[in-house]
Amino acid sequence: MSFYKKIRNIAFLIEPEKAHSLAISALKTGLHVPSDNNSELLKQTVFGLKFNNPIGLAAGFDKNAEVPNEIISSGFGFTEVGTVTPLGQPGNEPPRVFRLPEDDALINRLGFNNDGMEIIYDRLSKTSKKGVIGINIGANKDTKDKLSDYQTGIKKFSAIADYITINISSPNTPGLRDLQSGQHFQELIELIKVNKKNGLKTPILIKLAPDLTKKELESIIELSIDSKIDGLILSNTTIERKNIRNKRFGNEEGGLSGKPLMKKSTKILRDVYKISEGKIPLIGVGGIFTSQDIIEKIQNGASLIQLYTAIVYEGPTLISKLKKELINQAERYGVKSINELVGSGIKK
Ligand SMILES: Cc1cc2nc3c(=O)[nH]c(=O)nc-3n(C[C@H](O)[C@H](O)[C@H](O)COP(=O)(O)O)c2cc1C
Repeated sequence: MSFYKKIRNIAFLIEPEKAHSLAISALKTGLHVPSDNNSELLKQTVFGLKFNNPIGLAAGFDKNAEVPNEIISSGFGFTEVGTVTPLGQPGNEPPRVFRLPEDDALINRLGFNNDGMEIIYDRLSKTSKKGVIGINIGANKDTKDKLSDYQTGIKKFSAIADYITINISSPNTPGLRDLQSGQHFQELIELIKVNKKNGLKTPILIKLAPDLTKKELESIIELSIDSKIDGLILSNTTIERKNIRNKRFGNEEGGLSGKPLMKKSTKILRDVYKISEGKIPLIGVGGIFTSQDIIEKIQNGASLIQLYTAIVYEGPTLISKLKKELINQAERYGVKSINELVGSGIKK
């Protein structure tokens, strides 16, 4: 049994949100596993930004931008702060995060608990960034106008974010996912277009749910290409519950992440890459635990990947291991950059 797995047995006695706060505190005090085994093979430029390696920490871990540099120093190629809403809010009533160890999964219904844009902006503007930091923005639960919350986020963070993610796919804010379809999505795209026309240079990415239909996807992709959206993130957590072994928490409301999400999120990634003919850079996220999972995402169209749940189950040394294995895999494929493998699993 690995050292982390022994610690994990103890850590799992602590309630999930407490354990998460402890992890943030440990990172703040400088307790992290340094990892710098980057290689030319893993470097690439995507939406105009230079990444040392393709592995990012997904949104939701460092919601309040407390430890972005420590995360980069732990070996990640980039990190995504947030989701940040204009006003700080407490989120849903606890308990709201559940471990499903039999499934290597989590269910969460946090509901965008965060300090709000003012505090997070202040914190980030005092940080001298050690790597690529994206900011994931959302709408307040009680807002009257969700679109105007996204506009506030773009305006607030465009000068300090390396990229901005528009999160319209969390299942834990009522009505949020409606923004992914029909008139609502068109209005969102219009808002982004106006910002770009007015000189916005910060790359804008949109994060989608894995539960969208092919028809919804086609319309999203058409509008995204037309309005020069810089990237899509596929995907957020799912509301689907299939083949979940854990009986105690399996039916808790919220978004499911981890291994059971791998197949579904890779399918939507593949569909988007195919439909868009590789015209929009994609970030693949959902269920990644191994370097083989990363290669699978890349071959199905991801230029970059993100993960979260695997860190809970495998510990922070996972990143160093994944990078080492990715370098070996790239050498085995005989490529000069991992980037050459993007979409290679899809027939042209
Ligand atoms: C506890 C928790 C909180 C999350 N919070 C957010 C969030 O605030 N915003 C967001 O876009 N995604 C959030 N996510 C989703 C992750 O960013 C990611 O899309 C999802 O967990 C799938 O990746 P994974 O299987 O590697 O965990 C959260 C996930 C977890 C487990």
